[in-house]
Amino acid sequence: MPINDFHQPEVLLSKEMIHDRVLELARQISRAYDGVEPVYLLGVLRGSFIFIADLARELTVPRSVDFIALSSYETGTTSSGAVRLMLDVRTPLRGKHVLIVEDIVDTGYTLDYLLKTLRAREPASIKTCVLLQKPDRLQVPTTIDYLGFTIPDKWVVGYGLDYEDKFRALPYIGTVEP
Ligand code: IMP
Repeated sequence: MPINDFHQPEVLLSKEMIHDRVLELARQISRAYDGVEPVYLLGVLRGSFIFIADLARELTVPRSVDFIALSSYETGTTSSGAVRLMLDVRTPLRGKHVLIVEDIVDTGYTLDYLLKTLRAREPASIKTCVLLQKPDRLQVPTTIDYLGFTIPDKWVVGYGLDYEDKFRALPYIGTVEP
């Protein structure tokens, strides 16, 4: 079946499951940063835009929100391994408590690149919050401090994630088979 805008991805994580897990992550993060605040939430565009919006609103500690854009895949689902910085943060990170908010860790190249690049800017601390991880696909070791779900090696869409820019606005996370 062609993957067009009318395709209905099979549900992997329901809207309710995602909501409950985001609440739990927000509680953990709020506890961890209580007294260490403010948290500098750094969303990785474009896949994390819905996750960071939900997370930011559930945190009970002071936070600011910024975005960075990277590119690792040129088209579809083929990894090139090469990561490029497409859009940088708006203010220096030195002395800030940075929490990277990423949609998914697949091979790990993107998060690895991001951690190395941002550590060099001497933030006060740097941690990672990742909604999904596919452990079977990992190529480079990465540190995920707050993880939503581990998922099987399938291409997932919805809740910000896309397949060729489709399905980002789906309220649930589903699978497609390209
Ligand atoms: P990594 O560098 O291989 O870990 O890939 C990370 C990036 O690849 C993510 O930020 C996503 O943009 C994209 N990606 C990897 N797997 C998926 C998927 O199943 N659905 C949508 N995007 C994905």
